Amino acid sequence: MTADTRPDLRPSYLEHRAMRTDAERLRTLVASARPADADRLSALAAWYARYEGAIHDHHTAEEAVVYPALLERDPTFADADGELEGEHRVLADRLAVMGQSLQALPAAAGGGSWERDLEEAVRAAEALQEILGVHLPHEEDVAFSRYQREFTAEEFTALGEAAWKVVGARAVVFAGPWVLDHATPAERAELLAAQPLLLRVLYRLALRPRYERLARPVRTPAPPASAHPEA
Ligand SMILES: [Fe+2]
Ligand SMILES: [Fe+2]
Repeated sequence: MTADTRPDLRPSYLEHRAMRTDAERLRTLVASARPADADRLSALAAWYARYEGAIHDHHTAEEAVVYPALLERDPTFADADGELEGEHRVLADRLAVMGQSLQALPAAAGGGSWERDLEEAVRAAEALQEILGVHLPHEEDVAFSRYQREFTAEEFTALGEAAWKVVGARAVVFAGPWVLDHATPAERAELLAAQPLLLRVLYRLALRPRYERLARPVRTPAPPASAHPEA
C-alpha cells in the first residue's frame, strides 16, 4: 500500500485529544469548585452529558463497525480487541459515576454534604482521567497502527460512513464542533475544507454557536480560590 492511499487517522487522533483535554479541564474545574459555583456546575453537568454521549458514540462506532472489520482483515487483533472492549466497559462505568457526581453537586452546594460530594466528584474525575490515560494510547498503539496497515483510505472512509449510520445524526451535532474545537487553526481549516459546503454553512450558522453556548462552562477559567466568598 503506498503512502497516499493510507487512511487519514487525523480525525480519530483529534477525537482522542478532545476526550483527554476535556477530562483534564473537568478535573481542574471540579477540584476548584466552591458552593457559590452551583449555577456553573449545573451548566457543566449539561455540557458533560454531551461529552459522555460523544464518547459512547465513539465506542459504539469502534465496537460495531471498525473493530469487527479489522478483525476480519487481521485475526491477530483478537486479543487486543477483547482488552480494548474491556477498557470501554470500565470507561463507561467511570463516565456514569462522574455524571452522577456532577449532577449531585449543585444541589449539595451550601449543604452539609458538600465537602464529601465534592471529594467524590474529584475522585470520579481522576478515575476517568486514569482510564482514558490507559485506553487511548493502548488503542492508538494496537488498533490505529493496524488501521494504517490493513485499510486503504477509501475503505477507512467507508467504515466511517457506516459508523455514522450506526450512531446517527446526533453524533454530528456535538462531536463535529467538539473535535474542531480541539484542532489547531491549521487542522480546523483543513478538516472544514474537506466537508461539503452545506455542512460548512450549517457548522458556522448553527452547530458552532450552539456548541459554544454549551462549552462555555468548560472554557471560562474558574476564578481563583481567593475570589470566592468563604463557604
Ligand atoms: Fe477510540
Ligand atoms: Fe476506544
